[in-house]
Amino acid sequence: MTAAPTLPGTVTVRVPAKVNLQLHVGALRPDGYHDLATVFQAVSLHDEVSVARWDGWQVVPAGTYADGIPTDEDNLAVRAAKLVAERCGVDESLSIRIDKDIPVAGGMAGGSADAAAALLACDQLWALGLDRDELAEMAAVLGSDVTFPLSGGTAMATGRGEQLAPVLARGTFHWVFAISDEGLSTPAVYAELDRMREESGESVAEPQVRPDLMAALRQGDAAALGNALHNDLEPAAFSLRPDLRELRDAGVEFGALGGIVSGSGPTVAFVTESHEAALDLSVSLAAADLCRDLRRAKGPVHGAQVVAGPRD
Ligand code: C5P
Repeated sequence: MTAAPTLPGTVTVRVPAKVNLQLHVGALRPDGYHDLATVFQAVSLHDEVSVARWDGWQVVPAGTYADGIPTDEDNLAVRAAKLVAERCGVDESLSIRIDKDIPVAGGMAGGSADAAAALLACDQLWALGLDRDELAEMAAVLGSDVTFPLSGGTAMATGRGEQLAPVLARGTFHWVFAISDEGLSTPAVYAELDRMREESGESVAEPQVRPDLMAALRQGDAAALGNALHNDLEPAAFSLRPDLRELRDAGVEFGALGGIVSGSGPTVAFVTESHEAALDLSVSLAAADLCRDLRRAKGPVHGAQVVAGPRD
């Protein structure tokens, strides 16, 4: 993936995707959100967002998943840039190029990552000198998952997902991501979870990350991590897309240490014991023809970074 700046003064930010290692979802709140307890890990699938001054607002889609990028005002990166402009009193419009290597509507926070990247890129372009807290505050306004890509690594999140605390993780984990043809809508998956919970009459516990995950991360133990993977949204994603269960089960049967729907799906994430094991798993899953695309990645990786500045 290359994002060669095409306009003078372009700022480019590289930003990672995320996977939720555990996602515990509390009851529906009056504001329409759910309290969460989750652990995010940033993984080495990246988008690049490039901003440059332009005569009007425009989005230029590029990269592997260019087709899925909204080019209108709904684009979260545009909303992020406009928020910075409004907050900081900047009266300029931008061309925003998005080189997309993170699946769209895949449960890997691709749109949120682009918004986080746009915040950082605008800060650089307009030389605003915003600090991490100011960026994080704007990120939380834009969406629950926008704060994490700014810092990356491995982090615990609470609230609706925007309150972060770093987590000690040793070593590198090797992931395979099985990517579907069609995306899943995050609100639709949460609504399905609420419906299933109402139907079953189960009481909803206070969301809490389990100690098995923290121990696996502390020890850098991929097998223990595989066992500790958990996602409360998974049954709802399976209910809307029964084929995902077959995909998850196939990956585990082919030797993954664990498999899980990533966030609200439909991407399914598998953790493996090594780079070679990830290669083998990709070959087996490709032969089974159960998904559109397979991508290997490692985690944790660092968060959003400026890779080309206005003076480069
Ligand atoms: O915050 P964001 O815009 O990414 O959330 C998208 C949707 O996902 C929300 O409108 C809500 O339906 C659901 N959501 C939720 N609880 C959260 C995060 C997201 O119900 N903590």
